[in-house]
Formats: sequence, C-alpha cells, structure tokens
Amino acid sequence: MTEFLSVMEPLAREAGAILRDGYGRGLTGAGAADQPIAVEYKGAIDLVTEYDRRSEALIIAGLRQAFPTHAIYAEESGRSATQAEYEWLVDPLDGTTNFAHAFPFFAVSIALARRGRLLAGVVYDPLRDELFSARAGQGATLNGTRLQVSAQADLGRAFLATGFAYDVRTNPRNNFAEFRQFLVRALAVRRAGAAALDCAYVAAGRLDGYWEFRIKPWDIGAGALIVLEAGGRVTTAEGGDDYLAVPDIVVSNGHIHEQMLRVLREGDEAPRP
Ligand code: IPD
Ligand code: CA
Ligand code: CA
Repeated sequence: MTEFLSVMEPLAREAGAILRDGYGRGLTGAGAADQPIAVEYKGAIDLVTEYDRRSEALIIAGLRQAFPTHAIYAEESGRSATQAEYEWLVDPLDGTTNFAHAFPFFAVSIALARRGRLLAGVVYDPLRDELFSARAGQGATLNGTRLQVSAQADLGRAFLATGFAYDVRTNPRNNFAEFRQFLVRALAVRRAGAAALDCAYVAAGRLDGYWEFRIKPWDIGAGALIVLEAGGRVTTAEGGDDYLAVPDIVVSNGHIHEQMLRVLREGDEAPRP
C-alpha cells in the first residue's frame, strides 16, 4: 500500500516553502511598498492572497500526480466533480489573515479521508519548521517525535483556543456568548487565527482544548486526526462523531472534553470554578 505520508509530508514542506517566501512582505508594513502581497476579498473580512493560490496549485498538482483517481476538496478551488472512495482535504494556507499581516501563525494542512474516515493528516508550520503528522492507528508525531496530549483534567486550569467564522459580523451564532463562558471557566482562551495549528497544539500538549463553530473540513481534517492519534478527543459541539460533516467542533486532551461540552450545552448554568 502507498505510504500516504511519504507523499503528503514533502508536499506540505514544499507548499510551506512558498508561504515562507512570501511571508513578511505584508499588506501595509515594512517591505509592502516595494512589492505588496496581492490580496482579494472573498467576503467582507475573508482574504485570499496569491500565496494561498500558489500553495494550493502545488499541492493539487502533487496529489493528482500521485493519486490520479482520488477526489480533492480544497479551499480555493472547491470539490472535484467526481466522487471517489478517497478524498483529500486541502487548506493551502490556514491563517491567511495572519500571513497577510506578517503575524507569524499560519500553516499548510492536508488530510486524506476514505469514505468519510480520516486516514492521514499533516499540518506544517513553515516559520518554525514544525511538521505535525498522523496516520490512523499509528500515532502522531512532531518532526518525527511522538506526540501526546496534556494531562490537564480541570477545565478551571485549562488553556484553550477558539476562532470566529468569517460571517461573525452578521451571523447571530457568533461564538461571543461561548467565548465569554469559557473565559470565566478556563485558565485562558486564545484566538490566534489558524484552526489547523490550534488542533496541532492540542495534540502537542501546548493547548488543552479548542472549539469553533462553522469550521470547514479542510481547516480541521488533518488537525483532528493528529489530536486523536496523540490520545485526544474530537467531537461536534453536541458530542457526536460526525465532525467532518457537522461544522461545529470540540477538540481536547480528552480529560476536559465533557466539561467543555457541558459549557457549550448549559451556558450560564454550567459550573464555574
Ligand atoms: C481560518 C482560520 C481561523 C478560523 C477560521 C478559518 P483561513 O482559516 O483557521 O483561525 O477561525 O474559521 O476559516 O481562512 O485562514 O484558511
Ligand atoms: Ca483555514
Ligand atoms: Ca485557507
């Protein structure tokens, strides 16, 4: 059988090199005057840069060459017309807003699912040269070293992350209430702006948990498998397993998972430390 990671890892690194190359030119910061990054708006606050597109083109070309019969679902070019048993989930640049502002927190994310079940995933942070990978049933690694989630079992001491969808200005389900609930129940909550890295950081024990609403399969496909393979837990906000289909996600070290679900379910009524 093809070792999927042997194709995915070099591709993620090559795509990351493209991003590293464009990083720091900024929109308005130093260097921008000479050669600013070409940016378009997909929505009011949803950017896409020339580097998202270049990274995605490289990844898709590599996947097509290695797996010509597989389907691809990529953020910038959408879903392949033909259905297939195997489907790739590609986020060529997770954290575009960060990247475009030279804020150093972004990554490449590539996952493979077979009939909706995750088989392999890689998240690559090109600035730190950190490659998080996982293969179903075979554990997760960071640059080859085995990953293990944290042991924190008390939500009151848990270090969490979240994010806000691009329709935050208009959608009433904007995560503000939940953000407030977790702020007074956890140790701290970060909103760093790259869902794939938020997941990878849970897998590495740097964070204890993460949740977000209206997330896309390409944002969390790889990260979710990496967390599971590092011993963590991934569910929908209601505790279900179909997090690739239902866009609300809760990711944790497992120990605080039920406490997180309870906060989402009970809101103000949930216990406070
Ligand atoms: C976004 C980031 C962000 C999350 C958004 C995502 P993008 O992805 O992961 O952290 O809050 O929901 O859409 O657009 O930078 O690839
Ligand atoms: Ca993304
Ligand atoms: Ca993206």
